[in-house]
Amino acid sequence: MNNNYVQDITKKINGKTLLAFSYQAEDIAVLHLLLEAKVNNLEVFTIDTGKLFPETQGYHTAVEKFFNISIKKYYPVKHKIEKLEAELGEYGMRESLEKRHLCCQIRKVDVLDAALEGRAAWVTGMRRGQSVTRTELQLLEFDEKHLIFKINPLYDWTHKELMDYIAKNNLPLHPLYAQGFTSIGCVSCTRAVQEGEDIRAGRWWWEKADCKECGLHVKL
Ligand code: ADX
Repeated sequence: MNNNYVQDITKKINGKTLLAFSYQAEDIAVLHLLLEAKVNNLEVFTIDTGKLFPETQGYHTAVEKFFNISIKKYYPVKHKIEKLEAELGEYGMRESLEKRHLCCQIRKVDVLDAALEGRAAWVTGMRRGQSVTRTELQLLEFDEKHLIFKINPLYDWTHKELMDYIAKNNLPLHPLYAQGFTSIGCVSCTRAVQEGEDIRAGRWWWEKADCKECGLHVKL
């Protein structure tokens, strides 16, 4: 991956460089990469779905301290969450794809829409190798839903390249990685993986691999 290229792209896109940060290994690497590339006006945000692991808050603070930055939190709309919880209870999202999508929609997708309002571009930590749903990922894409650019600096990185980059730069990892987690989302929908399992096997583990997307990255 060419750092200068990411720098060039973000310079050409006016305004702030907005990174969507989800506490995963990919995100800590891409955050480091953007800081190293000294991109324009970097702003980092995360979506607090209300169902994050208790360890995630500690990691949030550790990352802010490590880089001396502030990570802005966006939250779902309270009355929508109350209605959703009345409908699904704690684990009702596991009963059907429809219910799971509804939960992701309210806790994440609608919140992303608000976070991207008025922006020119956003950056993610997505990689092609993460999933069968991401094999076509490009470095620079046009997000047709939000009508803005989307930059995926790690699009062609392998898992090994990612972990080597993290080790080489001594970057802090979310503590759950030490407990067998390889992808991190909500408490209700994420578990550790067994050896030999796919890195996203612990996300929505009761579903088939080709529908494991929350809707943040679905193409129109
Ligand atoms: S998901 O669609 O299955 O949830 P995944 O967890 O792989 O996506 O994350 C892919 C990228 O989406 C992350 O690198 C990050 O840029 C963005 N992202 C995912 N979840 C969040 C979140 N809660 N807050 C901010 N960005 C997120």
